[in-house]
Amino acid sequence: MSVNFEDIWGVLPFPAFVINRGNYFREANGAAEQMVQTSRKQMQRKTLSDVFGADSVVVDTARTARRTNGSLMQNNVDVALVDQAAQSCNVHIGVMGRDGDTLLLIIQPTGVAQKMSRSLTNMAAARSVAAMAAMLAHEIRNPLAGISGAAQLLGMSANDDDQELTDMIYQETKRIGDLVDRVEHFGDQRRVERKPTNIHDVLDRVCRAAKAGFAAHVNMSVDYDPSLPDVAGDSDQLQQVFQNLIKNSAESVEKLRGNITIRTSYNSGIKLAVAGSHTENLPIQIEISDNGRGIPDDLIADIFEPFVTSKANGSGLGLSLVSKIVTAHGGLIECSSSIGRTVFCVRLPVWRTPKEAK
Ligand SMILES: Nc1ncnc2c1ncn2[C@@H]1O[C@H](COP(=O)(O)OP(=O)(O)O)[C@@H](O)[C@H]1O
Ligand SMILES: [Mg+2]
Repeated sequence: MSVNFEDIWGVLPFPAFVINRGNYFREANGAAEQMVQTSRKQMQRKTLSDVFGADSVVVDTARTARRTNGSLMQNNVDVALVDQAAQSCNVHIGVMGRDGDTLLLIIQPTGVAQKMSRSLTNMAAARSVAAMAAMLAHEIRNPLAGISGAAQLLGMSANDDDQELTDMIYQETKRIGDLVDRVEHFGDQRRVERKPTNIHDVLDRVCRAAKAGFAAHVNMSVDYDPSLPDVAGDSDQLQQVFQNLIKNSAESVEKLRGNITIRTSYNSGIKLAVAGSHTENLPIQIEISDNGRGIPDDLIADIFEPFVTSKANGSGLGLSLVSKIVTAHGGLIECSSSIGRTVFCVRLPVWRTPKEAK
């Protein structure tokens, strides 16, 4: 197969620009057009400073690259478009051609890359935990049923004081049983069956169950974008995702003034480069926010790992399961938290009929 450089240029998952003498844009690939939200033609009338700001690290790096006539890489620097929030990126500038004036600029947002590799690591950890969980659940359930049955039998002929104890044995074995169920659920290796799924139906089902149970004390409000298209998802598994997130929120808020908000929106700018294959668009955004105590600082980096919990009776499996399911959907989950405001944002792909997806 002969290689067409136009095709390579188009398929690059990161914004790439060719910069002229005088810092005018000469070329921009699709990802660059998307980043700057400007067509290549319009960009050709602009300079680096117009787009990134005169004192931006990009302009600075371009200057240094020209001066030293060499390629430069700046890792984890803040890059902002004029009037927009900065984003952490790796900026690569290479000098092209002999005149030393034409530059190739590639900008790779690091946030997404780091999150992606992190969620893949979480998934591997979740898988090994899952295998062990299935084995343990099996081994624990039988003796547990024996203990629980024996406690009930003893309770029948015990006096009141002793019955309190047999009740306790029964209650506690039930608690272990519930934990085993949850762990086993976690070990469930079902594939995600992606179908066109109305995310609002999923959220409504979770809300109803939440209001009737674990979130009865909380004020829940929704803010849906009614024009949202279907997601490509497995509704049972997505229900588990939001149930876990809302349960965590309900457990973090005060009894009296607890608020949980569920917001959906469409955000076309989010793309995820899936290693070795393609880029996935993740425009469907679901945010679960609460006004609770926030995630402890020393925990926040690890909350998606299994068994990480700050709760006396917590299993630490909720968010690990959430992350496993969202990743299996090709989606992304992010979290930000401070005292009084915690937001979990899930981004998912839109459903496309197999024909559209080609
Ligand atoms: N909305 C939230 N507000 C505050 N802390 C949270 C929230 N969601 C998760 N956390 C923190 O993350 C930890 C892990 O959550 P999870 O995996 O669901 O396990 P568990 O709920 O069993 O502790 C929790 O113990 C808690 O410290
Ligand atoms: Mg939980």
